Amino acid sequence: NNDSTVSITVVGASGDLAKKKIFPALFALYYEDCLPKHFTIFGYARSKMTDAELRNMVSKTLTCRIDKRENCSEKMEEFLERCFYHSGQYDSEGHFIDLDKKLKQHEGSRVSNRLFYLSIPPNIFLDVVKCASKSASSVNGWTRVIVEKPFGRDSESSAALTRGLKQYLVEDQIFRIDHYLGKELVENLSVLRFSNLVFEPLWSRQYIRNVQLIFSEDFGTEGRGGYFDGYGIIRDIMQNHLLQILALFAMETPISLEAEDIRNEKVKVLRSMKPLQLEDVVIGQYKSHTKGGTTYPGYIDDKTVPKDSVTPTFAAAALFINNARWDGVPFLMKAGKALHTKRYVAEIRVQFRHVPGNLYKGSFGTDLDRATNELVIRVQPDEAIYLKINNKIPGLGMRLDRSNLNLHYAARYSKEIPDAYERLLLDAIEGERRLFIRSDELDAAWSLFTPLLKELEEKRIAPELYPYGSRGPVGAHYLAAKYNVRWGDLS
Ligand code: BG6
Repeated sequence: NNDSTVSITVVGASGDLAKKKIFPALFALYYEDCLPKHFTIFGYARSKMTDAELRNMVSKTLTCRIDKRENCSEKMEEFLERCFYHSGQYDSEGHFIDLDKKLKQHEGSRVSNRLFYLSIPPNIFLDVVKCASKSASSVNGWTRVIVEKPFGRDSESSAALTRGLKQYLVEDQIFRIDHYLGKELVENLSVLRFSNLVFEPLWSRQYIRNVQLIFSEDFGTEGRGGYFDGYGIIRDIMQNHLLQILALFAMETPISLEAEDIRNEKVKVLRSMKPLQLEDVVIGQYKSHTKGGTTYPGYIDDKTVPKDSVTPTFAAAALFINNARWDGVPFLMKAGKALHTKRYVAEIRVQFRHVPGNLYKGSFGTDLDRATNELVIRVQPDEAIYLKINNKIPGLGMRLDRSNLNLHYAARYSKEIPDAYERLLLDAIEGERRLFIRSDELDAAWSLFTPLLKELEEKRIAPELYPYGSRGPVGAHYLAAKYNVRWGDLS
């Protein structure tokens, strides 16, 4: 509405996430004319900085995503003029009162809506929320707070954080971000499944043999070892990003596309799962490796990581959903850092069952598994959805081939894919909660992983070491084999 204004305060403005993701996403939204007419952006952090210095810092990471447009630098200037800085302590009500005064100057007599993005460590979330809600919340519009993971490190600490936040905010004001939910292909999952007759009826144990959720990076924790060591790959990727994808993938049909209906179904599916068992998990940690004259450092070579750290940088796990749709179907997750370069990927693989009484059985030799259909949703990089099918190789003989029906986004769509943070920030401004995590979803997610995490830590279970740049621990293959699963081929 033209009479209202939105003030976005990025708390922790000089941090990495703010610089790399949040400011560029806000600019992209501005560039695409998606921000409201009246908006102001404030960076808030402890260090002293002028508005000009903030603008200079921000300008370094802004890019023109759609570089064909000529007026990009003009747009950047306009955007930067609407960015300001306020220096303050995170636990000082007085400093937030000063921020409030500045915000009011920009808002004038309009209805003032305020969004706070907490791009700060979780141990100061509550200080900021307390000060911001008491001293800098809107008097005549909405106030919303976006929080980034980690939302605690187990069920208890997460519940304590939720209780703390709810002293100052109601659930509707809290936007818990999981940026994987903002990724184009993750959002498309429901469209693919619920609007295509060729998929929807197949989405169950009757036709699906297993589902694989794979996250693999070809670089280590470079520079983030200190943070990472307190969490590990299970908390960093599995308990949130991969589990959220699993919930969206496996949920029952929601009554509608409304946020509450979707989140109700996600919670149900999470609650139908058994907490992870140690015997269904493999953990690994990368070690230094020399290749082609270059030595790649191991995880514990990072100076901020204790030499005897047993924190996993790789994990594979088998999960099961105890409901009528998915009974007995293994959902395998695999997440790792410092893996093979060809494995820099996030993807979902759905392996279908064999065709009963397959007439062409003989053409596949003994390896019938190779002949089952597989649907691959490549979330990144180079977004694609493809279906592996069996096909006759043209010619007079009868030889079969595995081929792909391929939807390659770059070839099919000329428009650039927005960054996940763009969509999520826009949704938060518009009050759309569909892609944010509700507190009961979070509780359910933690209940699945907390007993395992405690056991790993109490027993200090040693991860299997794998060389930097390798395919990861061999244990992951044994785990899959235990459930008659073979990890999908490389994309
Ligand atoms: C973050 C994790 O949530 O996601 C990082 O903390 C990881 O460890 C990152 O590198 C991956 O995000 P993306 O969008 O680059 O796949």
